[in-house]
Amino acid sequence: MRGHTGPDRGVVEISSLKYSGPRLVGEYFVKHTKDKSCINKNIPILDVGAGTGLVAQIMHDIGFDNIDGVDASDTMLEFARGKSIYQRLYCAKLGEGNTLPMIDNTYDAAVMSGIFVQGHVKLDALLDIIRLVKPGGLIVNAMREQNIHDVDEYMNIHEIFASWAKKGLWKCLEHATPPVKYYGDYKPLVHVYEVTK
Ligand SMILES: C[S@@+](CC[C@H](N)C(=O)[O-])C[C@H]1O[C@@H](n2cnc3c(N)ncnc32)[C@H](O)[C@@H]1O
Repeated sequence: MRGHTGPDRGVVEISSLKYSGPRLVGEYFVKHTKDKSCINKNIPILDVGAGTGLVAQIMHDIGFDNIDGVDASDTMLEFARGKSIYQRLYCAKLGEGNTLPMIDNTYDAAVMSGIFVQGHVKLDALLDIIRLVKPGGLIVNAMREQNIHDVDEYMNIHEIFASWAKKGLWKCLEHATPPVKYYGDYKPLVHVYEVTK
């Protein structure tokens, strides 16, 4: 890791009590795989915008143990690495036409929370994530619902997602606004898609 000797003290991990995104990703992942009774806990999963590793921690607690992560920040990844629950961690910028180094159809699922935030990940990042997920695999995203009203980049999110469904890239399994707090007084929005490309 470039010149780092330890995690940056400026990074504060959000308590899972205050921030429900990672837990919601885990819950909706389980909901949409529960009929696959013998789902292999060793399936490769990508944690997108891994940050300090909260989503991977939930997936690991559920029993999944083959998780890779990607994030643009070395500092965040150093925290994630400290959790010792990832197989591989990639430091890379998603979106804006960038392509991750992994080959097509590497993962059975991609999970993410808190990445669609003002100034963070652009929506086109999901096109590369769809490339990386096998047909039949799941993509589960949790975000602050308010961001689809307040943040220009995400205002047409559902039209864009529908256009990708029309192109046969994925199909919508669920858009959910569960009656819990996402963070503070904000409501969550959860997307569950199956890759069909
Ligand atoms: C709010 S944090 C969420 C982290 C984690 N998923 C969680 O739920 O705690 C957003 C993360 O996205 C990362 N990020 C922002 N823009 C990115 C980009 N374009 N490519 C990759 N990672 C990015 C940030 O470094 C940060 O770790």
